[in-house]
Amino acid sequence: MTYDFNELINRRGTNSLKWDSAADPDVLPLWVADMDFRTAQPVIDALRRRVEHGIFGYTHVPDAFYESIIRWFARRHGWTMRREWMLYTSGVVPALSAVIKALTAPGDKVLVQTPVYNCFFSSIRNNGCTVEESPLIYENQTYRMDFDDLERRAADPRVKVMLLCNPHNPAGRVWTRDELARLGDICLRHGVTAVADEIHCELVMPGHTYTPYASVSEAMRHGSVTCLSPTKSFNMAGLQIAAIVSDDADVRRRIDRAININEVCDVNPFGIEATIAAYDEGEPWLLQLLDYLKGNYDFMCDYCREHLPEFPLTELEGTYLVWMDCHVLGLPSEELEERLVDESRLWLNAGTMYGAAGEGFMRWNIACPRARLAETLERFTEFLNRTKHS
Ligand SMILES: Cc1ncc(COP(=O)(O)O)c(C=O)c1O
Repeated sequence: MTYDFNELINRRGTNSLKWDSAADPDVLPLWVADMDFRTAQPVIDALRRRVEHGIFGYTHVPDAFYESIIRWFARRHGWTMRREWMLYTSGVVPALSAVIKALTAPGDKVLVQTPVYNCFFSSIRNNGCTVEESPLIYENQTYRMDFDDLERRAADPRVKVMLLCNPHNPAGRVWTRDELARLGDICLRHGVTAVADEIHCELVMPGHTYTPYASVSEAMRHGSVTCLSPTKSFNMAGLQIAAIVSDDADVRRRIDRAININEVCDVNPFGIEATIAAYDEGEPWLLQLLDYLKGNYDFMCDYCREHLPEFPLTELEGTYLVWMDCHVLGLPSEELEERLVDESRLWLNAGTMYGAAGEGFMRWNIACPRARLAETLERFTEFLNRTKHS
């Protein structure tokens, strides 16, 4: 089946966080990370069958759920998990929070590489821990890990956990096997458990390869916990489902306890059906999506080269979140976010949402039909023209 990602689908009036939150209905939202595309037809069909049953009681998670994940990761990413390594919960953020609770005590430090996904900060703080930031190095429109800095920080005995974003939101990096191996070496030597958030793992541009952190070596698998979900790549974040993978029975017992304490041990029937359908039958849709996203990124690069040469884009290796350098404006990112909404009806995310290291940047969610992306770029350009002349 061929999918039409150019179709402009009206999402207003569907209680969409992205589309129904702005006071002004003419605002074009390129902020929160979901896509303006319909998901794969097999997922829609599976959900329709489940809805037709008409009874939506508590859900038992069947073997088919675990098996679909195992098959997908073995086939697409060369990592074979075992059924007994896996737990489930109601999303990757609840997963991260439970894992932090399980592996730390209040007052401990959790290492992150900034700028990074905003909920990392809240999950750490909500568990009474402190954020230990190792800023990524920004150079030549891309980011790399600062291994010396990581080494120093990981050596602090109060650092118990490192939250890794692989691929990285918002830096757009798909970490290479070598980078992960160097990071793994640091974490293992200092007894820091790596918690890999791999929710963006399918969203990888041509020429780059996602490597599951736990697949690099047996030691890294044993010293880590992986949190994953098909919801980001198949555009079904509202269905709230995630898996947590650890080969360590004691770690799993502690995480299971934390999931229960946090009361996130129940999932809804739709997340289960959607996961199985996406992994078992959704690949053709995903491959077409990836082509389309690459086309959008190329389109944006061409547009920016021609019309916005002072606003460099960070190279996008993975995710659909483009990180634009807006330092030339000399405006705080948050002010720029507000002014773009108020003056140009364009909603982007301020870089500082991802920590102080994001100051001067804006995040663009380009997972929308190309015509809409073009319109948002024009709104941005018009905003700049008005600002220059006022
Ligand atoms: C890195 C990362 N982790 C987790 C999430 C959200 O996961 P969930 O909706 O399953 O809680 C996002 C959403 O953008 C994300 O970018």
